[in-house]
Amino acid sequence: MRLKNKVAFITGAAQGVKGSVMGFGGATAWVFGREGAKLVLTDMDAANGELTAAQLGQSGADAVFARLDVTNEAEWQVAMKAALERFGRVDILVNSAGTTHVHKVEDLPVEVWNAQLDVHAKSVFLGMKHVIPSMMAQGGGAIVNVSSMAGTAGLGNAAYSAGKAATRLLTKAAALQYARDNIRVNSVHPGWADTPLARKVMVDIMADGTHDYRPERTPLGRLARAEEIANAILFLASDEASYVTGTEFIVDGGVTAQ
Ligand SMILES: NC(=O)c1ccc[n+]([C@@H]2O[C@H](COP(=O)([O-])OP(=O)(O)OC[C@H]3O[C@@H](n4cnc5c(N)ncnc54)[C@H](O)[C@@H]3O)[C@@H](O)[C@H]2O)c1
Repeated sequence: MRLKNKVAFITGAAQGVKGSVMGFGGATAWVFGREGAKLVLTDMDAANGELTAAQLGQSGADAVFARLDVTNEAEWQVAMKAALERFGRVDILVNSAGTTHVHKVEDLPVEVWNAQLDVHAKSVFLGMKHVIPSMMAQGGGAIVNVSSMAGTAGLGNAAYSAGKAATRLLTKAAALQYARDNIRVNSVHPGWADTPLARKVMVDIMADGTHDYRPERTPLGRLARAEEIANAILFLASDEASYVTGTEFIVDGGVTAQ
C-alpha cells in the first residue's frame, strides 16, 4: 500500500480496460489502485475511461472518471474543482495524455505542430498550474510528467519531440520553483512501448521511414509493457522518492544508452 490515503489525478487514463492492451495512464491507474490510492481518471475517451473506472471500482479501488481535454484550460479548472470536492485533496498528478503524428519537417502542417505542442507541453503546464495551489495549501504533493526518450534525443517526429523536450525542462523549472513547498516534480521518459496509441501509429511511422521501432533494435530486445512504465511513475509518485525532484527517469530498455 505505497500510496495509502493519497489521491491521484491521472490524465490520458482511459486505456485501462481489463483484458485489452493498456496505455501508460490506464496501467498507472491499476498500479496506483493496487497501492491504495484514490483515483481521478481523466481522458477525452469517456467510454473507455468510464469502463476503466468502473472496473477499478469492482476491484475495490475508489475511482471516478471525468472527461477532460488536457489542452483546454477551462476544462482543467472544472475537473480539478470536481476532484477537490470529491476527495478534498490531490496528492499526485500524472500527466500522461498524448498523441503523435507522422510528418517530416517539410510536410508538417502548422496545425499539427500547434496541436502537438498543445497536447504535450501546454497540457502539462495547465495541469501543474491548476494543481499546484491546492498542493501548496495542503503542504506538498508529487507531479509526474510523461515525456519520452524522444524528449531527450531526436528519436521521434519533429513536433512530438519538440513537445516532449518542452515537458522535460518545464518539469525541471517547476521542480525548482516549488521545491520549498514540498512539491516534487519529475519526468518519465519511456522508450518504445506496446500501447493502444503505439499500435495505431507505429506502422505508419515505420512506413514513413523516419523511425525504426523494431523491438530487436532495443538493447533489451523487446518493447516495454505499459505496466513497466507505470512502475517508474509509481516510484516517483510515492514517498520512496522523497528526495527526488527535477529528475528525468529514462525507461527505454537501453535505447538512449547506445
Ligand atoms: N507508447 C509509446 O511507445 C510511448 C513512448 C514514449 C512516450 N509516450 C507518451 O506516453 C503517454 C501515453 O502514451 P500511451 O502510448 O500509453 O498512450 P495511450 O494508449 O494511453 O493513449 C493516449 C491516451 O491519451 C488520450 N488523449 C489524447 N489526447 C488527449 C487530450 N487532448 N485530452 C485528454 N486525453 C487525451 C487518448 O484518448 C488516449 O486515451 C503519451 O504522452 C505518449 O506520447 C508513449
